[in-house]
Amino acid sequence: IKKIGVMTSGGDSPGMNAAIRSVVRTCAYHNVKCVGIYRGYEGVMDGDFKDMDARSVKDIVNKGGTILKSARSKDFRTPEGRKIAHQKLKNAGVDALVVIGGDGSFNGGLIFNQEFDFPVIGIPGTIDNDIFGTSHTLGFDTALNTVVECIDKIRDTASSHNRLFFVEVMGRDVGHIALNAGIGAGAEEILIPEENLGLERLLESLQRSKRSGKSSSIVVVAEGDKIGKNVFELKDYVETNLDEYDVRVSVLGHMQRGGPPSCFDRVLASRMGVKAVESLLEGKSSVMVGLSDGKMILTPLEQAVKGKSQINRELLRVSEIMST
Ligand code: F6P
Repeated sequence: IKKIGVMTSGGDSPGMNAAIRSVVRTCAYHNVKCVGIYRGYEGVMDGDFKDMDARSVKDIVNKGGTILKSARSKDFRTPEGRKIAHQKLKNAGVDALVVIGGDGSFNGGLIFNQEFDFPVIGIPGTIDNDIFGTSHTLGFDTALNTVVECIDKIRDTASSHNRLFFVEVMGRDVGHIALNAGIGAGAEEILIPEENLGLERLLESLQRSKRSGKSSSIVVVAEGDKIGKNVFELKDYVETNLDEYDVRVSVLGHMQRGGPPSCFDRVLASRMGVKAVESLLEGKSSVMVGLSDGKMILTPLEQAVKGKSQINRELLRVSEIMST
């Protein structure tokens, strides 16, 4: 392998820049050329490439977002789009890809690898932590810290006014952000898709906490939860059924995806970049780099896209005990 292309694809996440830097510098370390590809698979099809050397990634380890930009591509899902992409890579002399992204991006990489026998390695980058084959995705830890910081602030005003707040957090179909940040921020209840609390039990829980002397409460709601009402409907429902509650809603939104990466995410990104490039140089392909028990591991892309990341059920119990 003489030239490696690196790109970011799907929703951005803090730590992607640190991963780009790591891929570029590991290439430089091993005397392999590296090109940055802009806007994910869209940029592959457009041949939007830029040669990158070790100095071109200075001052980005601490930056959120991605200097290579990111996109979700429709055209790459078609055989014609992938054929164009393959041609563009061949023309530029790129003979392997490092894809930093989520499962949609890995699916694209997997098909591309199968169609053209083109070496592809994935680095999991998403705040949702919803990828099988790694305990942590890039950006998850930073997003947790952001959410906890926001809820700490919400708590101040909730407590001053004796209010109940529903705080909606991201996570797409999974509850990792809600569950972890909810415990970290001392939430009263945490609503996640993996465990449907039910409306009745939510009311009971809120009544119980009032009786136990709590004057304000925070309920963290994962955007994909299955309780059947969105946060605004939940507010109306609780206010209708429990007179004693004055309820407010806060939807944290995209602020969860931005900001400087935490030290954990920077170190993880640096490790993953090294592992990805060195695995390619060892002849590995169609695998994803991941973290397991503190070590770097490889998981076949096929498993990474098919498998489901599980929530840590111990945390459910911890959360229940903490809200006593
Ligand atoms: O996958 C990351 C994520 O931020 C999810 O948590 C969220 O559901 C989605 O992306 C939002 O996507 P968009 O930025 O396209 O609105």
